[in-house]
Amino acid sequence: MNSESAKSIKLGICGFGTVGGGSFALLQTNGDEILRRLGCSIEVCRIASRSLNPANLSTEARISADPFDVVNAPEVEIVIETMGGFDPTFEVVRQALANGKHVVTANKALIAERGNELFPVAEENSVNLAYESSVAGGIPIIKALREGLAANRIDWLAGIINGTGNFILTEMADKQRQFEDVLVEAQELGYAEADPTFDVEGIDAAHKLTIMASIAFGIPLQFNKTYTEGISQITPEDIGFAKQLGYRIKHLGIARCTDKGVQMRVHPTLISRKRLLARVDGVGNAILVHGNAVGSTLYNGPGAGAAATASAVIADVIDIARQTLAGVRKPLQPALGYLAMHDGLEVLNIEDIETEYYLRIPVNDVVGVMAKISSILQDCDISIEAVIQKELNTKTVPIVILTHRAVEKKLDTAIAAIEALDDVSGAVMRIRVESFDDE
Ligand code: HSE
Repeated sequence: MNSESAKSIKLGICGFGTVGGGSFALLQTNGDEILRRLGCSIEVCRIASRSLNPANLSTEARISADPFDVVNAPEVEIVIETMGGFDPTFEVVRQALANGKHVVTANKALIAERGNELFPVAEENSVNLAYESSVAGGIPIIKALREGLAANRIDWLAGIINGTGNFILTEMADKQRQFEDVLVEAQELGYAEADPTFDVEGIDAAHKLTIMASIAFGIPLQFNKTYTEGISQITPEDIGFAKQLGYRIKHLGIARCTDKGVQMRVHPTLISRKRLLARVDGVGNAILVHGNAVGSTLYNGPGAGAAATASAVIADVIDIARQTLAGVRKPLQPALGYLAMHDGLEVLNIEDIETEYYLRIPVNDVVGVMAKISSILQDCDISIEAVIQKELNTKTVPIVILTHRAVEKKLDTAIAAIEALDDVSGAVMRIRVESFDDE
């Protein structure tokens, strides 16, 4: 193929960390393959980075510290935004769109929290704001939801969508490693966010779930209504009890469209070890999506890391380049996949969901405490499915209970009453238990 004769697409990269640097490297490594697919080369002509030393990079690109140099450069057609955060990133992206440049971003926080402001700017200027890499790293889940499943009404989706969290839970379960020690390794491997509390407290997963729920159900982005709970309270003891009961603990993002409204929630979850999601380990992400026509489909792959995320960034660049080469100026589809959103779908409060629960209750080892707990649960219409009560020869022992389905509000009432008992010696650990049809 003669690359000389073809037009090249001019790219600017803002932010040259793990994902920006990885995207540049991928264009170099797979440049020939991309040229064959596209029929034209992609040329990085501008880079903005505060830390990059030009001497360390073999490129003709002009390098500056200021991202506005990139978005205001007349020759740049597509801007990759891999700076992260909101400030100055929001303004950098807004300016690029206003300048008529397509933007590809890996920034899930920006899309989840400010996408409702940025998508209209993209639309007004007839450019794409593409964000495949913002959810689940290398897995093309945005494409799957927005295009592959476009003929379906999506009923629910559930996924492991934070690689760092899954890596930590897997290492704790399989190698009995300590939480903090695994987190440091995840940071060294480039999986964790700049602020790793985003990973372990579920904020990163909530950003991704917010985005997926909007595309799945055709609702505006509503990050502030996504219930968010992290994994930092999960103990090796809980992982052990879950295993004894036939479950694994995974940090899931769950979105479900019900008659009462939409559920959007991120929290640790017990799932039967026989289920596909229970077997996704390490930095792996997986999203199970149920469409009313297709049934259940599973998307599995690496959810973080430079090359995997770059794979999704460059796929967006290729899509836009194809559109440009075909002479199509306007994006081929709305950013969230719906021209007319569903206005009437309200997001439910967490108290209104109904599921099964794992409870670990620290009690003083005295006669009668189990009877009192059972009676409280019964008064709240919560029935017990299984109990583990260990003889530990210690003053405080854990009672572990698996419940049948119950409404969260009633469980809250029961937990408050249980914690008020004299012989309950600490806070009750509650983990939701879910079962997803993966066939
Ligand atoms: N910190 C994120 C994760 C990176 O661990 O999944 C990918 O979004």
